[in-house]
Amino acid sequence: MKILKTIQEMKEVSAELKSSGLSIGFVPTMGSLHEGHLSLVRSSRNQADRTVVSIFVNPTQFGPGEDFKRYPRDLKKDLEILEKEEVDFVFVPEVEEMYPDGYKTYVEVHELQDKLCGRSRPGHFRGVCTIVLKLSHIIKPDLSFFGQKDAQQAIILKRMVKDLDMDGEIEVLPIVRNEEGIALSSRNEYLSPEERKAALCLSKSLKKARSMIEKGERDTEKIIRGMKEIIAEEPLARIDYVEIVGMEELDPLPWIEEEALIVLAVFVGKARLIDNTIGRIKE
Ligand code: PAJ
Repeated sequence: MKILKTIQEMKEVSAELKSSGLSIGFVPTMGSLHEGHLSLVRSSRNQADRTVVSIFVNPTQFGPGEDFKRYPRDLKKDLEILEKEEVDFVFVPEVEEMYPDGYKTYVEVHELQDKLCGRSRPGHFRGVCTIVLKLSHIIKPDLSFFGQKDAQQAIILKRMVKDLDMDGEIEVLPIVRNEEGIALSSRNEYLSPEERKAALCLSKSLKKARSMIEKGERDTEKIIRGMKEIIAEEPLARIDYVEIVGMEELDPLPWIEEEALIVLAVFVGKARLIDNTIGRIKE
């Protein structure tokens, strides 16, 4: 496994792979790796000739009062994990490498960036799009892998790739959960044992939504009320949003017809946790 720190080195590797006719799979991450990240790495290993994983805690996607400084970082452990997964290249640039003094260029996906998580994290998706675009220019992947865990992120990035006529495909993989149903997240590390139990209310409320839909409920207001009741039972949890939206435009739906994205963000202690599921009507 080769570790690359500069844009120049990474570009050279990418150019060599391209000239040898090898396909590149790319998994962007902010490190603190868990099985969710590894599911993306394994898909890339299965589908592409060579896999590049980036580890970069991207400052531009964190707001002023957010957790950029205390975001969990353990590069040594991450590299050991990736070595075991037989990853070919790891790109670990410093902040100054990606955003040198005088940096001024940003990418925005209008409208979609302002909904759901964008409402409580202004500028977040601008930072995500900017770094993913920069990394894609440097690495030139044939296939990039993202998780459904960050559903809005995946939808926005797909839109960016389409709107900017970017090369390479995006593949979105299912949410990996622990035995109790909690979606794996680097931010779960912030949780105390009691908060960990409280965090179960996110997946429980999604389960409730699915079971209401299975029983024939189509009115999203009622489903959202049912979900909020579950979260309200948990004193350590505070709702940021609970919404049922269309899969492309992310606008609230009054009724579930065919497919809907059921999404929520909940504060548990200091952590802001997100989760989602796709509600489908079976004919
Ligand atoms: P990070 O939170 O490290 O996540 C990296 C990738 O792993 C994302 O595509 C995310 O959706 C996926 N992922 C995280 N938890 C998952 C889970 N439980 N199951 C499946 N996939 C999961 O998302 C980011 O970093 C950043 O915004 C990034 C895209 C790297 C840009 O900085």
